[in-house]
Amino acid sequence: MSKTEEFKALGRDDANSIESILADDAIDFGTLAHTTPVGSDAIFTWDYDRSRAGLSKLYERAKTSQWNGSTDLDWSIEVDVEAVAREMQSAIAHLRQRLVDLPNSPLKKWTEAEWTHLAIEAFNWRMSQFLHGEQGALICTAKIVETVPWIDAKYYASTQVMDEARHVEVFSRYLDTKLDGHYPVNPALQLLIDDIIGDNRWDMTYMGMQIMVEGLALAAFGFMHAVTQEPLLKKLLRYVMSDEARHVAFGVLSLKEYYAGLGAAEIKERQEFAFEAALRMRDRLMMHAVWERCGVDREMITRMLFEVRKPGVNPFQAALFSKIVPNCKKLGLLDAGDGWLRERFTDIGVIEYEDAPDTETEYALLDAVAADREATPV
Ligand SMILES: [Fe+2]
Ligand SMILES: [Fe+2]
Repeated sequence: MSKTEEFKALGRDDANSIESILADDAIDFGTLAHTTPVGSDAIFTWDYDRSRAGLSKLYERAKTSQWNGSTDLDWSIEVDVEAVAREMQSAIAHLRQRLVDLPNSPLKKWTEAEWTHLAIEAFNWRMSQFLHGEQGALICTAKIVETVPWIDAKYYASTQVMDEARHVEVFSRYLDTKLDGHYPVNPALQLLIDDIIGDNRWDMTYMGMQIMVEGLALAAFGFMHAVTQEPLLKKLLRYVMSDEARHVAFGVLSLKEYYAGLGAAEIKERQEFAFEAALRMRDRLMMHAVWERCGVDREMITRMLFEVRKPGVNPFQAALFSKIVPNCKKLGLLDAGDGWLRERFTDIGVIEYEDAPDTETEYALLDAVAADREATPV
């Protein structure tokens, strides 16, 4: 049974229980390799007409906005890891304070040195999850090339495969050459990616990766980009975000067309899938491994995080939905079936983002590669 099916069987409340989240930590994803089934048939199309203007335009943009991770970034820059880690920690100072303020919090006794250690480990962990997530995107996009029925989408997806390989490359190089200590993939992230790859409906790979995971990643990259002054990381994120904005746009453009032709029952399945994925990303992506390395029991920290993450309490966490909600709206998923998804997103306190810029329109604005080339013509 996939994790998504397991959640349906359990009911949502139990699905994201502390016990269930902790149980994921025992899953072995291998030290060198992890194998998971790929759902769906490969589809050949004999219709080579490029009839989808939006996808065609996106493909042209992708071809001219390729960049080279080896030469467009200045890898000679020395990184002060502690300074970067502190920047990130001070940006979420309110969360730190809430954790300290909880009754019996073991963090009340923490020294600044312990907080700095946590900040450095958290930086390593975030960059490691970006790396593993990028590999998930690489594999999902390769699957989309095979499974999507339209030639315009196969063309575009092939450029995304290259983009994702470049993203894996640059995050891996940053971790290897600037940071000290990688983390394995977060189990909840890998289980979600496995479900996305394993689904035999081609559009679910799009929905899961292009709308949900990449929507969350784009918000997380944006947050880190806004906070850090480290020039190598800042440019790396700026360029990765240029590509990611196109990727989410690809999902929106393709799915909007496909969903317009689906019936009510099929749309409801997509709404449920979107909501399950949103909850899994909201509740299960925790840095247990980091806290444990810093001497805090993982069950205790999970309970504490649940306490401070109650809806409406943590604006940073809600902001992670700032791309997902408007994109779901654009796909017609918010209001279909008497507004089932609108109600759920209202319940979890993220509906306020429904009118945030959707990525179908903002990708050209986010094209930092094109902007840099205009500023310094070659
Ligand atoms: Fe990526
Ligand atoms: Fe991407």
